[in-house]
Amino acid sequence: DKGNHRHFMEKEIHEQPEVISHTLAHYLDFGAGVSKPLDLPFDFAKLDRLSISACGTAYLSGVIGKYWFERLARLPVDIDIASEFRYREMPIVKNSAAFFVSQSGETADTLASLRYCRKAGVPIGAVVNVRESTIARESDVILPTLAGPEIGVASTKAFTCQLSVLASLAVRAGVARGTISPEREKVLVRELSEAPRYANQVLKLDQQIEKLARELSSYKHVLYLGRDTNYPLAMEGALKLKEISYIHAEGYAAGELKHGPIALIDENMPVIVIAPHDRIFEKTVSNMQEVAARGGKVILITDKKGAEQASLQTMETIVLPDMPEIITPIVYALPIQMLAYYTAVFMGTDVDQPRNLAKSVTVE
Ligand code: M6R
Repeated sequence: DKGNHRHFMEKEIHEQPEVISHTLAHYLDFGAGVSKPLDLPFDFAKLDRLSISACGTAYLSGVIGKYWFERLARLPVDIDIASEFRYREMPIVKNSAAFFVSQSGETADTLASLRYCRKAGVPIGAVVNVRESTIARESDVILPTLAGPEIGVASTKAFTCQLSVLASLAVRAGVARGTISPEREKVLVRELSEAPRYANQVLKLDQQIEKLARELSSYKHVLYLGRDTNYPLAMEGALKLKEISYIHAEGYAAGELKHGPIALIDENMPVIVIAPHDRIFEKTVSNMQEVAARGGKVILITDKKGAEQASLQTMETIVLPDMPEIITPIVYALPIQMLAYYTAVFMGTDVDQPRNLAKSVTVE
C-alpha cells in the first residue's frame, strides 16, 4: 500500500526518519549513550581485517562503512563488489571476519561470496533487511536493518538503514579496540541519534529539489562528485539517477576530476557536488572552480557554512542544516534520492519498476 504517495519509492524515501531511528535503536542505547553489546562470532578487538562484499547500493553502503571502521576503529577494511570478490581468489587473512550487506538477502553474487568465506572458515555477519533470507540463514550472526519491506526497485530506505547499522558497528568496534573513549562514544551515539531529525528536515526541501529535477530532466549526462564518504555517496547518486531516470550519470571522487572526466565538462553536463563543510571542503571548492572555469554548471549540495564559503556561481545550491560529520552520509542520501525520484517522475518513467531491473538479483 502506497498510502497517499504516488510511488513506493516516494513512500520509502519518506519513511526514512522512522526506520533509521528504529535501526539505530536496535544497536545503540540512546539513554545511556552507549553502543549495545552484540553476540558476535568474533571479537572486534582481535580482528586484523574486516572484509565487506555486496552489490549495487548495498556495496556503496559498504564503501562508506570502510571509511567509518578505518577512521573510528582503526580497523582495516577490504570492500568488494561481490561479483568480483567471488572469483578473485582473495587470500584469507587470519583474524579476519566478513560482512555481507544485502537488502533482499538473496543476491546470487553476495551469497556466493559468503559461501567462499564460509568454506575458508571466516566468521560471517549478514547485514540484511529480510531476516528469513538465504544470506541471513547461512551467516553466523544476523545484523538486521529495520527498514521494513522495500518495494521500489531503487533502494532508498534500505541504504540509509545499512548505513545506520555500519555506523553503529563502527562505534562498537572502536569501543572494543580502545580507539573510542567512553566520552567519545557518548558523543557519537548522541550525534547518530540526531540523524532522523535531520532527515526529516531534509524532506522539507522537496519543492526546491522538485524544481531542480525539472531542469535536470532535460540533460543527457550528469557527473556526481564528492570526497571522503561523499565519494561513495556520489556513486550512489549517479546509480539512483541512471536506474530510474535513465540519464547517464557517473560518480567520481572529486580529486579524480583532473585525471580524466574533466575532459567531458561543458554546459551540457551538470556537475552535482556533494560537499558538506568538512576538513576537506576547500579541496572540493577548487574542483568546483575547475568545473565553472570550463563552462560547467554546478549543482551544490552543502550546508549553511559551505554555501557561505563556496563563493561560486551555481546552477542551484541545496542547503542542508549544519550537522555532525558522522551522520552526513545518512542525511545527504536523501536529497540525492529525491533528485533522482523527481527527475524520473518528470520524465514519466516507471519509477518503481524501472526497465531491465529486478528487485532481487538471484542469478549471476
Ligand atoms: O538485495 P541487495 O541489497 O543484495 O541488492 C543489491 C543490488 O542489486 C541493489 O542494491 C541494486 O543496486 C538496487 N537496485 C539499487 O537501487
